[in-house]
Amino acid sequence: MSYTTLLTAQDADGIVVVTINRPDKLNALNDAVITELAALAAWARADASVRALILTGAGEKAFVAGADIAEITQTDATTGAQLAAKGHAAFRALEQLGKPVIAAVNGFALGGGCELAMACHVRYASPNAKFGQPEVKLGLIPGYGGTVRLPRLVGRGRALELLMSSAMIDATEAHRIGLVNKVVPQEALLDDVKALARSILQMGPLAVRLVLETVDRALDLPLEAALAHEAAQFGVACGSDDKREGTSAFLEKRPAQFSGR
Ligand code: COA
Repeated sequence: MSYTTLLTAQDADGIVVVTINRPDKLNALNDAVITELAALAAWARADASVRALILTGAGEKAFVAGADIAEITQTDATTGAQLAAKGHAAFRALEQLGKPVIAAVNGFALGGGCELAMACHVRYASPNAKFGQPEVKLGLIPGYGGTVRLPRLVGRGRALELLMSSAMIDATEAHRIGLVNKVVPQEALLDDVKALARSILQMGPLAVRLVLETVDRALDLPLEAALAHEAAQFGVACGSDDKREGTSAFLEKRPAQFSGR
């Protein structure tokens, strides 16, 4: 599949590095990028050869510096809401891919960039990464999930501080508050993220998908309902070939050969 704003490179393990490629605009998310991210998610979900996605930005300065401000100047109340809904659908498709999606945050992750990183399952960042939700500075609010995912990741108080002040925080502070999982030297960032993806790919693929689905659902449910859903998903795992293989391999002291069923 070919794109105009994304570069994709798939390795022999099925790990696809997706580079948002508008370096002259610090990889800002225009309509074309959002359209192509949605198409990418649909392809990655359907193609069994794709086993994990890594999202990063072109160049060494930016992951994504936000939604494209030039395009936002053209919106009104109706088209603004449509723009946000389209971004939500694309990001949600990545979040619900059923395969690991990891952000390699290699520079500015502002506005929509921070929101895209938060829609990924895990975030590693280079030391030059800067995070923030500066929309209020533009008279806007986040439109790609920032008001929803940021409080869930870092708590309401820290989220509101970032959302109301438009403060930019560095990678160390983002790590301290739980916005990123790990800070890695820029030159090692992609290799480290790939190593994480490879380690996940050694696990039972069905179980990894069930973990992603179960956590995603649990965040939306009251405690008792979330526990009931977990029990049902545990049952699905218990009935799987992967569970038979994984538990047998443990008892027989040999590596598991998972089928993903
Ligand atoms: N949308 C559209 N264009 C953007 C952009 C965005 N979110 N972020 C950066 N760009 C463009 C700049 O307009 C500039 O384009 P030009 O060379 O044609 O003038 C180019 O990318 C480089 O950005 P520049 O501002 O010159 O780089 P800098 O190093 O001085 O500053 C930032 C970097 C990230 C601090 C600054 O670009 C910035 O504040 N960007 C907007 C961040 C934001 O508010 N995001 C939320 C949007 S809702």
